[in-house]
Amino acid sequence: MSPSAITPEPSFKVTPIAKSIKNKTDFGAIAEGLDLNDISDADVRALSDAIWTHKIVIVKGQNDLAPIKQWELVTRFDPNATQLHSHGDVKTFNKNGGLLSASREVLGIPGAENVRLIGKGYQGEDHYGLKDYMIKKGLSHDWHGKKLPMEEFQSGISRFQRWHIDAPLYDRDPAWFTTLRCIRRPTQPEITVRWDDGSGYSLKCEPGLTAFFSNTQTYELMTDDEKAIADHSWVEYAPHPYKWIGNCSGRTNGLGLENEGKELSLEEIGEFEDRKVKRYPMVWVNPVTGERAFQVHGICARKLFLRSSLEEEPRVIDNMEEIRAFLRSIQERVLKPEYLLLPKMEEGDIIMWANYMLMHSAIDYPIEYGPRTMHQANIGASVGPADMGLFPIPVSS
Ligand SMILES: [Fe+2]
Repeated sequence: MSPSAITPEPSFKVTPIAKSIKNKTDFGAIAEGLDLNDISDADVRALSDAIWTHKIVIVKGQNDLAPIKQWELVTRFDPNATQLHSHGDVKTFNKNGGLLSASREVLGIPGAENVRLIGKGYQGEDHYGLKDYMIKKGLSHDWHGKKLPMEEFQSGISRFQRWHIDAPLYDRDPAWFTTLRCIRRPTQPEITVRWDDGSGYSLKCEPGLTAFFSNTQTYELMTDDEKAIADHSWVEYAPHPYKWIGNCSGRTNGLGLENEGKELSLEEIGEFEDRKVKRYPMVWVNPVTGERAFQVHGICARKLFLRSSLEEEPRVIDNMEEIRAFLRSIQERVLKPEYLLLPKMEEGDIIMWANYMLMHSAIDYPIEYGPRTMHQANIGASVGPADMGLFPIPVSS
């Protein structure tokens, strides 16, 4: 009997997101007809396959979802995973989160602590047990080396905060998927997102959205020689990488860091265990579609091991400027308005994305536009990128 004969048809409908003619993205879909408070195992499996296939799925109509049910769904996507958010518990995150925890408070929802409250401004009298809570934090782009003048920001100009994968890159493996539930966000006025990197690129969008690009598209934009390197090479990430770059500044388009030499030395990072340092292939393979993604988290990369075949001795690059120049030349090809998707999340939507295939960035907006309330949850994967590449990473790197 073929697998399709024993797998029931999903009970919900998946439709690709409609896009403008100028948009070149090949990902994103909408799922309708699901109740995530009560979802069958077959539908969890079908939804998981849909996320890998479409890379982003927006599940509509989940206004009444119980926070614990969001967490349960996340655990059902990866039942062999340790039952913990990919960034660990709130205490660990606040201790070692470095750049990630410095400018924001991280709060778990009472009773569902692995579901994290993310947003801006006043969260209401009683938000699932959080009373009169106000999210105060720095502007999300304020770590950029070249600052956006405050008057411009207040007039509705913004930037991509930081293009990233949701990935601890030390000890735990990144989640296959991130789930983000939109409870509230402003929808107007429009903001203008500027690259401010000399490219002249900008785009207009509603406030409170997340931007995405696909690294399978990045891979497709590479030459055959570049693909041969990407297919056979790997990256070593810094121990406690966000601590390592805690003093660094980002580039104005949100992709990569300025070269300022402000990374901590290994001694300054403090205690770490080499076995927890992450060494991942440059290319991560989609387990459902077989597509390849050029998935390198540039800001945390401390060494590149480059080679064009399995037999070749790798060339080790540990100079930050060289690492960044190599990655930038590849990754900036896709950082153009036509390759970006900013799914319009409405209240009650939950967006779920394939964290192993995409990069995403927050975009800040002036607080006067209104509060933003999101619930984010993901789980450190049971099988990480080191086992989802095209070759096993050599042990002694
Ligand atoms: Fe993120």
